Amino acid sequence: MTKRILSGVQPSGALTLGNYLGALKNWQSLQENHDCLFCIVNLHAITVPVEPDALRKQTLEIAATYLACGIDPVQSHIFVQSHVPAHAELGWVLGCKTPMGWLNRMTQFKDKAGKHKEKASLGLYGYPTLQAADILLYQADGVPVGDDQKQHIELTRDIAMSVNSAYGKDLFTVPEPMIEKTAARIMSLRDGTKKMSKSDPSDFSRLNLTDSADEIRLKIKKAKTDSGPLPETLEGLKDRPEAKNLVAIFASLSKQSEEDVCRQYAGAPFSVFKPDLADLAVEVLAPTGESIKKYLKETSELERHLKRGADYANEIAEKTLKDVFETIGFLPRL
Ligand code: TYM
Repeated sequence: MTKRILSGVQPSGALTLGNYLGALKNWQSLQENHDCLFCIVNLHAITVPVEPDALRKQTLEIAATYLACGIDPVQSHIFVQSHVPAHAELGWVLGCKTPMGWLNRMTQFKDKAGKHKEKASLGLYGYPTLQAADILLYQADGVPVGDDQKQHIELTRDIAMSVNSAYGKDLFTVPEPMIEKTAARIMSLRDGTKKMSKSDPSDFSRLNLTDSADEIRLKIKKAKTDSGPLPETLEGLKDRPEAKNLVAIFASLSKQSEEDVCRQYAGAPFSVFKPDLADLAVEVLAPTGESIKKYLKETSELERHLKRGADYANEIAEKTLKDVFETIGFLPRL
Protein backbone atom coordinates (compact mmCIF):
# COMPACT_ATOMS: atom_id res chain seq x y z
CA MET A 1 0.00 0.00 0.00
CA THR A 2 1.21 3.53 -0.74
CA LYS A 3 2.68 5.10 2.37
CA ARG A 4 1.33 8.44 3.49
CA ILE A 5 3.49 11.47 4.26
CA LEU A 6 2.41 14.56 6.20
CA SER A 7 4.47 17.65 6.90
CA GLY A 8 3.95 21.35 7.45
CA VAL A 9 5.48 24.79 7.71
CA GLN A 10 4.37 27.75 9.80
CA PRO A 11 3.41 30.87 7.86
CA SER A 12 5.56 33.00 10.10
CA GLY A 13 7.77 34.74 7.54
CA ALA A 14 9.71 34.07 4.35
CA LEU A 15 11.27 30.62 4.33
CA THR A 16 14.99 30.16 4.77
CA LEU A 17 17.63 27.91 3.31
CA GLY A 18 17.24 25.87 6.53
CA ASN A 19 13.57 25.16 5.80
CA TYR A 20 14.47 24.28 2.22
CA LEU A 21 17.40 21.95 2.86
CA GLY A 22 15.99 20.47 6.08
CA ALA A 23 12.47 19.84 4.80
CA LEU A 24 11.09 21.06 1.47
CA LYS A 25 13.87 19.74 -0.75
CA ASN A 26 13.10 16.23 0.50
CA TRP A 27 9.36 16.54 0.04
CA GLN A 28 9.79 16.92 -3.69
CA SER A 29 11.39 13.50 -4.13
CA LEU A 30 8.96 11.80 -1.75
CA GLN A 31 5.89 12.76 -3.74
CA GLU A 32 6.85 10.39 -6.59
CA ASN A 33 5.85 7.30 -4.64
CA HIS A 34 3.92 8.47 -1.57
CA ASP A 35 0.51 9.93 -0.83
CA CYS A 36 1.70 13.37 0.29
CA LEU A 37 -0.13 16.03 2.29
CA PHE A 38 1.64 19.33 2.92
CA CYS A 39 -0.04 21.68 5.32
CA ILE A 40 0.39 25.42 5.97
CA VAL A 41 0.00 25.45 9.73
CA ASN A 42 -1.68 28.78 10.43
CA LEU A 43 -3.16 27.61 13.76
CA HIS A 44 0.43 27.17 14.93
CA ALA A 45 1.40 30.62 13.66
CA ILE A 46 -0.97 32.39 16.09
CA THR A 47 0.74 30.91 19.16
CA VAL A 48 2.85 34.10 19.06
CA PRO A 49 1.55 37.59 18.19
CA VAL A 50 1.02 38.14 14.46
CA GLU A 51 -0.69 40.88 12.42
CA PRO A 52 -3.78 39.56 10.56
CA ASP A 53 -2.69 41.06 7.21
CA ALA A 54 0.79 39.60 7.59
CA LEU A 55 -0.65 36.17 8.39
CA ARG A 56 -2.87 36.24 5.29
CA LYS A 57 0.05 37.29 3.09
CA GLN A 58 2.47 34.76 4.57
CA THR A 59 -0.04 31.93 4.15
CA LEU A 60 -0.20 32.53 0.40
CA GLU A 61 3.57 32.97 0.29
CA ILE A 62 4.08 29.52 1.78
CA ALA A 63 1.65 28.02 -0.76
CA ALA A 64 3.65 29.71 -3.55
CA THR A 65 6.90 28.48 -1.97
CA TYR A 66 5.65 24.88 -1.87
CA LEU A 67 5.00 25.03 -5.61
CA ALA A 68 8.27 26.85 -6.33
CA CYS A 69 10.14 24.10 -4.45
CA GLY A 70 8.75 21.49 -6.77
CA ILE A 71 5.63 20.29 -4.96
CA ASP A 72 3.20 19.22 -7.63
CA PRO A 73 -0.26 20.32 -6.42
CA VAL A 74 -1.97 17.60 -8.44
CA GLN A 75 0.21 14.69 -7.37
CA SER A 76 0.42 15.98 -3.75
CA HIS A 77 -2.12 17.87 -1.65
CA ILE A 78 -1.36 21.30 -0.24
CA PHE A 79 -3.82 22.85 2.21
CA VAL A 80 -4.30 25.40 4.97
CA GLN A 81 -4.65 23.94 8.46
CA SER A 82 -7.65 26.11 9.46
CA HIS A 83 -9.56 24.82 6.41
CA VAL A 84 -9.73 21.43 8.13
CA PRO A 85 -11.56 21.96 11.46
CA ALA A 86 -10.60 18.46 12.65
CA HIS A 87 -7.07 19.72 13.49
CA ALA A 88 -8.37 21.94 16.28
CA GLU A 89 -10.85 19.30 17.45
CA LEU A 90 -8.37 16.42 17.65
CA GLY A 91 -5.81 18.85 19.07
CA TRP A 92 -8.14 19.44 22.03
CA VAL A 93 -8.73 15.73 22.56
CA LEU A 94 -4.99 14.95 22.47
CA GLY A 95 -4.33 17.86 24.84
CA CYS A 96 -6.59 16.04 27.31
CA LYS A 97 -4.66 12.81 26.82
CA THR A 98 -1.14 14.25 27.21
CA PRO A 99 0.44 14.59 30.66
CA MET A 100 1.90 18.03 31.40
CA GLY A 101 5.14 16.29 32.35
CA TRP A 102 5.61 15.28 28.70
CA LEU A 103 5.02 18.84 27.50
CA ASN A 104 7.39 20.24 30.13
CA ARG A 105 10.24 18.43 28.40
CA MET A 106 9.74 20.21 25.06
CA THR A 107 12.81 22.30 24.32
CA GLN A 108 11.12 24.40 21.62
CA PHE A 109 8.70 25.87 24.17
CA LYS A 110 11.62 26.71 26.46
CA ASP A 111 13.51 28.36 23.56
CA LYS A 112 10.52 30.31 22.27
CA ALA A 113 9.11 31.38 25.64
CA GLY A 114 12.60 32.31 26.88
CA LYS A 115 12.71 34.21 30.13
CA HIS A 116 9.08 35.33 29.81
CA LYS A 117 7.43 31.96 30.37
CA GLU A 118 4.54 33.52 32.33
CA LYS A 119 3.64 35.72 29.36
CA ALA A 120 3.77 32.93 26.75
CA SER A 121 0.35 31.79 25.49
CA LEU A 122 -1.32 28.54 26.45
CA GLY A 123 -1.30 27.78 22.72
CA LEU A 124 2.50 27.95 22.57
CA TYR A 125 2.72 25.51 25.46
CA GLY A 126 0.15 23.09 24.01
CA TYR A 127 1.49 23.46 20.44
CA PRO A 128 3.02 19.93 20.31
CA THR A 129 -0.37 18.28 20.92
CA LEU A 130 -1.80 20.22 17.97
CA GLN A 131 1.18 19.09 15.90
CA ALA A 132 0.44 15.50 16.97
CA ALA A 133 -3.15 15.98 15.76
CA ASP A 134 -1.87 17.31 12.40
CA ILE A 135 -0.02 14.06 11.88
CA LEU A 136 -2.30 11.48 13.52
CA LEU A 137 -5.46 12.70 11.76
CA TYR A 138 -4.04 11.43 8.48
CA GLN A 139 -2.62 8.14 9.79
CA ALA A 140 0.68 9.36 8.33
CA ASP A 141 3.46 6.77 8.07
CA GLY A 142 6.29 9.29 7.75
CA VAL A 143 6.95 12.90 8.70
CA PRO A 144 9.82 14.56 6.80
CA VAL A 145 11.20 17.37 8.98
CA GLY A 146 14.42 19.01 10.14
CA ASP A 147 16.18 17.86 13.27
CA ASP A 148 14.59 20.59 15.44
CA GLN A 149 11.21 18.84 15.08
CA LYS A 150 12.47 15.41 16.16
CA GLN A 151 11.30 15.84 19.74
CA HIS A 152 7.79 16.80 18.59
CA ILE A 153 7.57 13.71 16.37
CA GLU A 154 8.74 11.52 19.24
CA LEU A 155 6.04 13.05 21.44
CA THR A 156 3.51 12.36 18.67
CA ARG A 157 4.57 8.71 18.69
CA ASP A 158 4.24 8.53 22.48
CA ILE A 159 0.76 10.08 22.35
CA ALA A 160 -0.35 7.72 19.56
CA MET A 161 0.89 4.64 21.43
CA SER A 162 -0.59 5.69 24.75
CA VAL A 163 -4.05 6.48 23.27
CA ASN A 164 -4.03 3.24 21.25
CA SER A 165 -3.18 1.27 24.35
CA ALA A 166 -5.68 3.11 26.60
CA TYR A 167 -8.56 2.18 24.29
CA GLY A 168 -7.17 -1.20 23.19
CA LYS A 169 -7.52 -0.23 19.55
CA ASP A 170 -5.25 0.99 16.72
CA LEU A 171 -6.86 4.40 16.44
CA PHE A 172 -3.64 5.97 15.17
CA THR A 173 -0.73 4.91 12.96
CA VAL A 174 2.52 5.49 14.85
CA PRO A 175 4.53 7.75 12.49
CA GLU A 176 8.26 7.67 11.74
CA PRO A 177 10.34 10.86 11.66
CA MET A 178 12.20 11.23 8.34
CA ILE A 179 15.27 13.40 8.91
CA GLU A 180 17.98 13.90 6.27
CA LYS A 181 21.49 13.44 7.58
CA THR A 182 23.39 16.20 5.79
CA ALA A 183 21.11 19.20 6.27
CA ALA A 184 19.19 18.17 9.38
CA ARG A 185 20.08 21.43 11.13
CA ILE A 186 21.37 24.36 9.10
CA MET A 187 22.92 26.95 11.38
CA SER A 188 22.95 30.75 11.39
CA LEU A 189 25.47 32.43 9.07
CA ARG A 190 26.45 34.71 11.97
CA ASP A 191 26.78 32.09 14.69
CA GLY A 192 27.41 28.43 13.89
CA THR A 193 25.98 27.32 17.23
CA LYS A 194 22.50 28.80 16.59
CA LYS A 195 19.86 27.37 14.24
CA MET A 196 19.16 29.35 11.05
CA SER A 197 15.71 30.74 11.68
CA LYS A 198 13.12 32.92 9.95
CA SER A 199 12.59 34.76 13.25
CA ASP A 200 16.25 35.73 13.90
CA PRO A 201 16.41 39.56 14.14
CA SER A 202 19.45 39.66 11.82
CA ASP A 203 18.66 39.10 8.14
CA PHE A 204 22.38 38.38 7.62
CA SER A 205 21.96 35.23 9.75
CA ARG A 206 20.01 33.48 6.99
CA LEU A 207 19.47 33.04 3.27
CA ASN A 208 15.80 33.60 2.43
CA LEU A 209 14.30 31.75 -0.49
CA THR A 210 13.22 35.15 -1.82
CA ASP A 211 16.70 36.76 -1.66
CA SER A 212 18.14 38.17 -4.90
CA ALA A 213 21.40 36.85 -6.33
CA ASP A 214 23.22 39.95 -5.00
CA GLU A 215 21.80 39.46 -1.50
CA ILE A 216 22.82 35.79 -1.51
CA ARG A 217 26.39 36.64 -2.57
CA LEU A 218 26.71 39.42 0.01
CA LYS A 219 25.37 37.27 2.86
CA ILE A 220 27.75 34.42 2.04
CA LYS A 221 30.67 36.86 1.72
CA LYS A 222 29.85 38.23 5.18
CA ALA A 223 29.14 34.81 6.76
CA LYS A 224 31.23 34.26 9.88
CA THR A 225 34.17 31.85 9.52
CA ASP A 226 37.41 31.14 11.33
CA SER A 227 40.90 31.83 9.98
CA GLY A 228 41.93 28.25 9.12
CA PRO A 229 41.78 26.66 5.66
CA LEU A 230 39.24 23.91 4.91
CA PRO A 231 40.36 20.54 6.29
CA GLU A 232 40.88 17.31 4.37
CA THR A 233 38.46 15.29 6.46
CA LEU A 234 35.28 15.76 8.49
CA GLU A 235 37.21 15.35 11.76
CA GLY A 236 39.01 18.57 10.91
CA LEU A 237 35.68 20.43 11.20
CA LYS A 238 35.28 19.48 14.85
CA ASP A 239 34.99 22.60 17.04
CA ARG A 240 34.68 24.77 13.89
CA PRO A 241 30.86 25.27 13.85
CA GLU A 242 30.77 27.97 11.16
CA ALA A 243 33.07 26.08 8.78
CA LYS A 244 31.12 22.87 9.40
CA ASN A 245 27.86 24.64 8.59
CA LEU A 246 29.12 26.09 5.29
CA VAL A 247 30.44 22.67 4.25
CA ALA A 248 27.07 21.09 5.11
CA ILE A 249 25.25 23.74 3.05
CA PHE A 250 27.59 23.16 0.11
CA ALA A 251 27.15 19.39 0.37
CA SER A 252 23.38 19.54 0.53
CA LEU A 253 23.03 22.08 -2.29
CA SER A 254 25.34 20.09 -4.56
CA LYS A 255 23.92 16.70 -3.46
CA GLN A 256 27.34 15.44 -2.34
CA SER A 257 28.54 14.13 0.99
CA GLU A 258 30.37 16.45 3.40
CA GLU A 259 33.40 14.16 3.09
CA ASP A 260 33.49 14.77 -0.68
CA VAL A 261 33.30 18.54 -0.18
CA CYS A 262 36.21 18.39 2.28
CA ARG A 263 38.27 16.33 -0.16
CA GLN A 264 37.50 18.75 -2.98
CA TYR A 265 38.48 21.87 -0.98
CA ALA A 266 41.19 20.40 1.28
CA GLY A 267 43.58 23.19 2.24
CA ALA A 268 41.63 25.93 0.40
CA PRO A 269 41.04 29.24 2.19
CA PHE A 270 37.49 30.60 2.61
CA SER A 271 38.31 33.24 -0.02
CA VAL A 272 38.27 30.38 -2.54
CA PHE A 273 35.44 28.31 -1.03
CA LYS A 274 32.94 31.12 -0.41
CA PRO A 275 32.60 32.37 -4.03
CA ASP A 276 31.97 28.78 -5.17
CA LEU A 277 29.38 28.34 -2.42
CA ALA A 278 27.75 31.62 -3.44
CA ASP A 279 27.56 30.50 -7.10
CA LEU A 280 25.95 27.25 -6.03
CA ALA A 281 23.45 28.96 -3.72
CA VAL A 282 22.51 31.46 -6.44
CA GLU A 283 22.08 28.63 -8.94
CA VAL A 284 19.62 26.81 -6.66
CA LEU A 285 17.88 29.64 -4.80
CA ALA A 286 17.56 32.48 -7.31
CA PRO A 287 15.21 30.56 -9.65
CA THR A 288 13.16 29.46 -6.61
CA GLY A 289 12.76 33.11 -5.55
CA GLU A 290 11.67 34.07 -9.07
CA SER A 291 9.23 31.21 -9.16
CA ILE A 292 7.68 32.24 -5.80
CA LYS A 293 7.04 35.72 -7.21
CA LYS A 294 5.46 34.23 -10.33
CA TYR A 295 3.08 31.98 -8.35
CA LEU A 296 2.13 34.88 -6.07
CA LYS A 297 0.80 36.74 -9.10
CA GLU A 298 -1.66 33.90 -9.67
CA THR A 299 -3.54 34.00 -6.37
CA SER A 300 -6.73 32.45 -7.68
CA GLU A 301 -4.72 29.49 -9.02
CA LEU A 302 -3.09 29.06 -5.59
CA GLU A 303 -6.50 29.22 -3.91
CA ARG A 304 -7.81 26.55 -6.25
CA HIS A 305 -4.97 24.19 -5.26
CA LEU A 306 -5.58 24.94 -1.59
CA LYS A 307 -9.28 24.19 -1.94
CA ARG A 308 -8.61 20.89 -3.68
CA GLY A 309 -6.08 20.00 -1.01
CA ALA A 310 -8.48 20.90 1.82
CA ASP A 311 -11.27 18.79 0.29
CA TYR A 312 -8.96 15.78 0.16
CA ALA A 313 -7.60 16.42 3.67
CA ASN A 314 -11.06 16.92 5.19
CA GLU A 315 -12.24 13.59 3.90
CA ILE A 316 -9.41 11.68 5.61
CA ALA A 317 -9.39 13.81 8.76
CA GLU A 318 -13.14 13.53 9.37
CA LYS A 319 -12.96 9.77 9.25
CA THR A 320 -10.24 9.62 11.90
CA LEU A 321 -12.03 12.19 14.06
CA LYS A 322 -15.29 10.23 13.87
CA ASP A 323 -13.50 7.05 15.04
CA VAL A 324 -11.83 8.96 17.87
CA PHE A 325 -15.07 10.63 19.03
CA GLU A 326 -16.94 7.33 19.02
CA THR A 327 -14.14 5.55 20.86
CA ILE A 328 -13.78 8.13 23.62
CA GLY A 329 -17.53 8.21 24.26
CA PHE A 330 -18.90 11.25 22.42
CA LEU A 331 -22.49 10.78 21.22
CA PRO A 332 -22.70 10.82 17.43
CA ARG A 333 -24.18 13.97 15.86
CA LEU A 334 -27.58 13.10 14.36
P1 TYM B 1 8.87 25.39 10.98
O1 TYM B 1 7.84 26.19 10.28
O2 TYM B 1 9.68 26.06 12.03
O3 TYM B 1 9.89 24.76 9.94
C1 TYM B 1 9.44 24.05 8.79
C2 TYM B 1 10.40 22.90 8.48
O4 TYM B 1 11.73 23.39 8.30
C3 TYM B 1 12.64 22.69 9.16
N1 TYM B 1 13.70 23.62 9.58
C4 TYM B 1 15.01 23.38 9.45
N2 TYM B 1 15.69 22.33 8.97
C5 TYM B 1 17.06 22.40 8.99
N3 TYM B 1 17.74 23.49 9.45
C6 TYM B 1 17.09 24.56 9.94
N4 TYM B 1 17.76 25.62 10.38
C7 TYM B 1 15.66 24.54 9.96
N5 TYM B 1 14.70 25.43 10.37
C8 TYM B 1 13.52 24.84 10.13
C9 TYM B 1 11.79 22.24 10.33
O5 TYM B 1 12.36 21.14 11.00
C10 TYM B 1 10.48 21.89 9.65
O6 TYM B 1 10.54 20.59 9.11
N6 TYM B 1 6.22 22.68 14.25
C11 TYM B 1 6.63 22.77 12.87
C12 TYM B 1 5.48 22.86 11.90
C13 TYM B 1 4.49 21.75 12.00
C14 TYM B 1 4.64 20.42 11.51
C15 TYM B 1 3.42 19.78 11.79
C16 TYM B 1 5.69 19.76 10.87
C17 TYM B 1 3.25 21.84 12.55
N7 TYM B 1 2.57 20.66 12.43
C18 TYM B 1 3.21 18.43 11.44
C19 TYM B 1 5.48 18.41 10.53
C20 TYM B 1 4.26 17.76 10.81
C21 TYM B 1 7.46 24.03 12.71
O7 TYM B 1 7.38 24.96 13.48
O8 TYM B 1 8.23 24.06 11.57
